[in-house]
Amino acid sequence: MPDDSLAHLPTPAVLIDEAQLHRNIAAMQARADQASVAFRPHAKTHKSLGIAQLQQTAGARGLTVAKPSEAIVFARGGFHDLRLAYTIIGADKHQRLAELRADGVQVSFCVDSLYGIAAAGPIYEAAGQQVEVLIEVDAGYGRAGVRYDDHETLAALAGALATSKGLRLVGLLTHGGHGYRPGQDDAGRHHYQIAAREEQSRLLEVANYLHGLGHADPRNFEISVGSTPTSFAIQDAKKSDGRTPHTESDRPTPAMQPHDVASDTFRITEFRAGNYVFFDQTQIDIGVVSRDDVAMTVLATVVSTRNRPDGTQSAYLDAGKKVLTSDRAPIHPGYGVILQSGSRKPMDKVEITGLSEEHAWVHCSGTERLSVGQRVEIIPNHACVVAATQDVLYRIEDQRVLGTWEVTAKGMT
Ligand SMILES: Cc1ncc(COP(=O)(O)O)c(C=O)c1O
Repeated sequence: MPDDSLAHLPTPAVLIDEAQLHRNIAAMQARADQASVAFRPHAKTHKSLGIAQLQQTAGARGLTVAKPSEAIVFARGGFHDLRLAYTIIGADKHQRLAELRADGVQVSFCVDSLYGIAAAGPIYEAAGQQVEVLIEVDAGYGRAGVRYDDHETLAALAGALATSKGLRLVGLLTHGGHGYRPGQDDAGRHHYQIAAREEQSRLLEVANYLHGLGHADPRNFEISVGSTPTSFAIQDAKKSDGRTPHTESDRPTPAMQPHDVASDTFRITEFRAGNYVFFDQTQIDIGVVSRDDVAMTVLATVVSTRNRPDGTQSAYLDAGKKVLTSDRAPIHPGYGVILQSGSRKPMDKVEITGLSEEHAWVHCSGTERLSVGQRVEIIPNHACVVAATQDVLYRIEDQRVLGTWEVTAKGMT
């Protein structure tokens, strides 16, 4: 019988604390249930059919993916309600989505340009389909999407969709990525809480605006928000009772404020968090969770050490940027947090100061020292990209390996 103790696992290896994974999935689903908002988890974090099944069993309604190649993997794995939270550009990609639809898979994707609408529409029309699309809105993050106050573009896109034979406008989608700013405002509100209010209120405002133009019906209009940090404030969607929440930080544009009684019934219909299954140092830094909530660690071995003339030590681990990735956390310096053995406490003054492809460069400037052959666990800065580097994630309980989660959609980028 193979030895299942963690001590025998070849390194570097990405470990998933099985019990914590289950707790994280249950807690986010409970948040959705309490707020009466559908939860559509983003599978880009784990890219794993097995973990997606756990989310579905917990109560998720459909899955979010980013790319058509991911959609194909999850569709083949039995997931038939897939939202691509991404502006899809490219005839080859639409062709693949049309094939999924023809196979009975419910797919929807985002648009934020007339180009995207004009290029996609004829492909679905030729396939005899009308596919569901959402206008991606930038509610403050500053990435893709039409700015929430750019009425001209919003009206133009909704108008173009109204005449498209291949596409049908079913809602709005935003990603509250600006919730990743660490810290608080002067009133003590975390930035992710402010971002959550913004993404909800600004999307409701846009829905009201499109309603005024006859492009959105409150009875069936999807309003999809979400990131892991802003999901922690999703209960606000219920508190607002479908009405646009107003705080001084929302500052709705005057042109969007007035709306009639019917438009007041728009509500946030779903949210999409992904990272929450694992969490990471970034989520700790922005104040969303503590180290105890993190389900993912990277197991690495010390492969070399060197004493420095200034009395400090350099040590090198066998996990480089191909595992830990080069992503930085908002506050904690370096490339991940090395934990004390068997504990969630960080080693004191032991920092990963650099990475090369196959090595982590560690500087020990206090009293703690590392020795060759020693194994350490590291909380990574960004769990989603770490998972994407692996073929499998090791499921761990009580220092034993229970099995693996296959990263089924690895390479689907
Ligand atoms: C469009 C979109 N939706 C949802 C998410 C999930 O957010 P998070 O990774 O914070 O859970 C992301 C993450 O990048 C995203 O880009």
